Amino acid sequence: MWDSDDPVPRAELLKKVKGVDALFCVLTEKIDTELLDAAGPNLRVVSTMSVGYDHLSLDELKKRGIRVGYTPDVLTDAVAELTVALLLCTSRRLVEATHEAKTGGWGTWRTLWLCGYELANSTVGIMGLGRIGLAIAERLKPFKVKKFIYSDVSPRPELANQIQAEYVSMDELAKQSDFLAVCCALTPETQGICNKELFSKMKDTSIFINTSRGGVVNQEDLYEALSTGQIAAAGLDVTVPEPLPTSHPLFTLKNCVILPHIASASFTTRNAMSSLAANNLLAGLRGDPMEKELQL
Ligand code: DGY
Repeated sequence: MWDSDDPVPRAELLKKVKGVDALFCVLTEKIDTELLDAAGPNLRVVSTMSVGYDHLSLDELKKRGIRVGYTPDVLTDAVAELTVALLLCTSRRLVEATHEAKTGGWGTWRTLWLCGYELANSTVGIMGLGRIGLAIAERLKPFKVKKFIYSDVSPRPELANQIQAEYVSMDELAKQSDFLAVCCALTPETQGICNKELFSKMKDTSIFINTSRGGVVNQEDLYEALSTGQIAAAGLDVTVPEPLPTSHPLFTLKNCVILPHIASASFTTRNAMSSLAANNLLAGLRGDPMEKELQL
């Protein structure tokens, strides 16, 4: 047991994991060949307290017949709420505004000072329409969004119909979106998919939001797009690496709001994630069906 809010140091984990039957982990732990070798042949279950599983070597787990639990659904509301908060914070320049108010930049009322972009009559693009993308769209709808569009590996009509979203190519997603929310999982196919090419097709008034995984974005290209005015602003809850060093160029930009990976950080959700992960682990050990098991 690692009784701390900070991640267990890798060396400590490699030592302590030897001989365990099951492993409860969070997304800071890389569950790879080295770790699985260190655990040894008793390991039957890995239960991650996260919906994302890019920190798990799935091929290796499958090869060894290890069952994997994860925590989808229980965090959807919290992540969608935070995404909307980040989107509004970015588009209406709230961080800049509070800074100005606190530091004496607030003079008289000025016509164009701290103007941003509004959701009313906008087109919102969702990259990767799953549970979270849908939940974000449902929350944005009352802001009078004109149109939802989405891209994915293939159309998802059962979800898209609930928000009247139109399936478009990545090209069209970039071109049409006034707000582009990245909601896809990090896979070899999505690694660095938000790059120079994508940003160059976006409008210079567009807002880019990422609450999925930092690896989906090429951060050098994003910096370029933000600093040259190719896009208007970005809100990121996830970066590479995490934590992002305070000296990182993205932190120098006024039009980039960076949060420390807190999308699921509500008390209710973190409690639900931890009990779901624990129950998945126990079910796996008993040989029962898990509430949420990854099909490898
Ligand atoms: C997840 O679960 O994958 C989120 O990124 C953190 O809650």
